[in-house]
Amino acid sequence: MSGEAAPHGAVMDVMDSRQNRTLTFTDKDGSERLSVVVPQQGAEPDLGTFLWPSSVVLCQYVWTQRKKIRGLSVLELGAGVALPGVVAALCGAHVTLSDDCDRPLCLQSCRRSCEANLLQGVKVLGLRWGAVTPDLCSLPHIDIIIGSDVFYQPEDFEPLLLTVSFLLNKNPEAQFWTSYQLRSPDWSMVELLVRWKLSCHYVPLCEFGSEGSDVAQSDLPGRHSVHMMVITKL
Ligand SMILES: C[S@@+](CC[C@H](N)C(=O)[O-])C[C@H]1O[C@@H](n2cnc3c(N)ncnc32)[C@H](O)[C@@H]1O
Repeated sequence: MSGEAAPHGAVMDVMDSRQNRTLTFTDKDGSERLSVVVPQQGAEPDLGTFLWPSSVVLCQYVWTQRKKIRGLSVLELGAGVALPGVVAALCGAHVTLSDDCDRPLCLQSCRRSCEANLLQGVKVLGLRWGAVTPDLCSLPHIDIIIGSDVFYQPEDFEPLLLTVSFLLNKNPEAQFWTSYQLRSPDWSMVELLVRWKLSCHYVPLCEFGSEGSDVAQSDLPGRHSVHMMVITKL
């Protein structure tokens, strides 16, 4: 790993010869660090085969919450390359990764990320938002749901919130940690959150070292309008 220290416990980014990315999370004084490999699938593009700016922000949030999540059950929705879930698993959480059952490349991305980080015991599940399937109903207890850049198409907001609401009703103490990139000022979730009896609060990026473009030194979050929310049951 050829990274170097960065401000705010931010993430350093290098490419290896196979064009995998390695991101390294550090705490403020550099005494703890965690390196994560992100396999790139440039030849087989799908939404879930790229690293999205929001993903780096959610990872940084998960990293700052690492003591809290150790031993907890974490489910990632719309995981794609699943960086936040991989970080959670490397921090000691029991993680299930999920993506659309009709997007095999995305599910493959989840598996590749686990393999690249030598993670065993992480389940990968086909889970389509808005569909109350036997797989969804039979999920065991969940403490934290995570999802980065899952609010990216307004027509999917309601199916996604239906799934989140279903899971929070089954696990009333759980929280949904989610980061998203604001791609239009017209987007609003307020009405949908009320309809699905959910409440949300925004976490300022500066509270967990995710402001600015130095996060990951990849220019990913910095140039985009990324927000971090925690959604709970009303
Ligand atoms: C913009 S990508 C974000 C991927 C990843 N979370 C990240 O931040 O790098 C959106 C993800 O949501 C998944 N997705 C889209 N529609 C979905 C649906 N109806 N049910 C489940 N997953 C879906 C896609 O397959 C994709 O992996």
